[in-house]
Amino acid sequence: MLAAACDPDSPDADPDPERRLGLRFPDGFRWGAATSAYQIEGAAKEDGRGASIWDTFSHTPGRTRNGDTGDVAADHYHRWASDLDLMKDLGLQTYRFSISWPRVQADGTGKANQRGLDFYRRLVDGLLERGIEPMATLFHWDLPQALQDAGGWENRDVAYRFGDYAAEVFEALGATVPVWLTINEPKTVVQNGYLGGHHAPGLRDASAAYLVAHHLQLAHGLAVRALRASSTARIGPAFNLHPCYPVDDTPEAAAATHLYDGYENRLYLDSVLRGAYPQDVLDDLGPESRMVRGIRDGDLAVISSPVDLVAVQYYTPYYVAPGGRTEMRWPTSEAFWQQIFPDGLFDMLTRITRDYGPIPLTITENGLPCPDELGADGTVDDPGRVEFLRDHFAAAHRAIGAGVPLESYHVWSLMDNFEWAEGYEQRWGLVYVDYPTQRRIPKRSARWYQGVIRDNTV
Ligand code: FCB
Repeated sequence: MLAAACDPDSPDADPDPERRLGLRFPDGFRWGAATSAYQIEGAAKEDGRGASIWDTFSHTPGRTRNGDTGDVAADHYHRWASDLDLMKDLGLQTYRFSISWPRVQADGTGKANQRGLDFYRRLVDGLLERGIEPMATLFHWDLPQALQDAGGWENRDVAYRFGDYAAEVFEALGATVPVWLTINEPKTVVQNGYLGGHHAPGLRDASAAYLVAHHLQLAHGLAVRALRASSTARIGPAFNLHPCYPVDDTPEAAAATHLYDGYENRLYLDSVLRGAYPQDVLDDLGPESRMVRGIRDGDLAVISSPVDLVAVQYYTPYYVAPGGRTEMRWPTSEAFWQQIFPDGLFDMLTRITRDYGPIPLTITENGLPCPDELGADGTVDDPGRVEFLRDHFAAAHRAIGAGVPLESYHVWSLMDNFEWAEGYEQRWGLVYVDYPTQRRIPKRSARWYQGVIRDNTV
C-alpha cells in the first residue's frame, strides 16, 4: 500500500502543498540540510579509511535490504565539489554532515590519518567559500570495526578513545567549524544496535544496551571537554526525541507514558542538561543492571559538561498504553515507524525550553521518505514531502513564537542515500540520486525549499 503521507491521490493530501502560510522566521534563522558519512560518501577503502561496523554489518548476508552496502553510496567522496555547488544553488545556509571516525583513525586509535582529515578540510573550506556554515557531527554510527572487536561501546575504554579522536579532529578542523555535534542519536545505537539488532553491531542484549547508553553519554562529555581545551567553537549533543502521549486518561497509561518518556527522552536530556539520570529509569533498570553498576563517581559531571546548544531530531510521536505497549494514531510514511504528526515537533521543542531552560536549539533532522520516481520529463514530483515539510516548518515557527530559542533547521536529507537496514529503497532526499549514473536531480521539494529559504518564510 502506498503510504498515505506521500500519496497525492489520498483524500488527506493537500491539493496545493506549496500554498504559502505567510509565516516569516526571525532574521538570522538558518535553513539547511543534513547527511552522514556512511550514508553518502562511498569510497569505503580509499585514502587509508579503515572498516567500520557498518561495513561489516552491511556485508553480512541478510542484514540489509537487497544486501545493499555503503561501498559506493552517493559517491560524495568524489563528488563533494559539485554537491556543494548544488547546495549553494538551492540557497542552503548551513550544512550538517558527519565525520567518519575510521577515515580519521583506521582502527580507532593513534595518530590521525592525514588523507582522511584532508577530505574534511576540503569539504569545510568548500562550504565556507560558498557561504554555507558547516555543522559537523563527530560520530554518526560508523564505529571503527577494530574498536568493536575490542568490545565496542560496551567497553568503557571506547568512550576515552572517542575523546582522543575528537581531540584529533578539533586540532585539525576546530577553528573553522563553528558548531560541533558529538554523537548522533545515542538512543538509536542503544535501541536498534543492541535491543532490536537491526542496526550494527546487530546485537540483542538488553543488559548490554544501557551500559552502552552510559558509555555513549560519557563519550559525549569527553568530547565536549576536548573541544573546550582547544577551540571556542560551539558544541552539543544530537538527540532523536519522541514526544510520548498516553493513549487514554487512565492513571495506568499516565504511569506507563512517564516511564516510556524516561527511556526515550529524559535518559539523554537529563544526564547532559541536569547531571543526573532519571531515577525512575534507574529504578526500572535495577541496581544490579550493568548500566547502574557501570556508572562511576564523576561520570555525570563529565556527561553534563556545559553545552552550547542541543540538536533535536524529530520524526514521530509515541502513544503509550498501560504496560508500555505503543499504538499508532496517525498516517505513517514508508518508514513503518513514522507517524506524521507535526504538532509533536511543537510539543517537543516547547517542552525542552520549559523543562531545561532557554538553551539554544537547532533541528538537525526532520524529513519524510517517499516513493520518488524520476519522471519521463526528467523531474521528480514529491508533493507529499512538500506538505510534510511545510507543516513541520509551521510547527517550528509556532514554537519560536512560544519562546523557544530555535536557531536553524536541517532537513533530512540533502539527497537520497543509504538508509541503513533499508538500503537504497527508502528515498529521504530533497535531491534525487539516480544511483546507476550518480546524477543529482533536485525534487519539487528542493525547488520549493529554495523559495522558503530565499523568503525566510513558509
Ligand atoms: C535518523 C538517522 C539518519 C537517518 C534518518 C532517517 O535516525 O540519524 O541517519 O537514517 O533517521
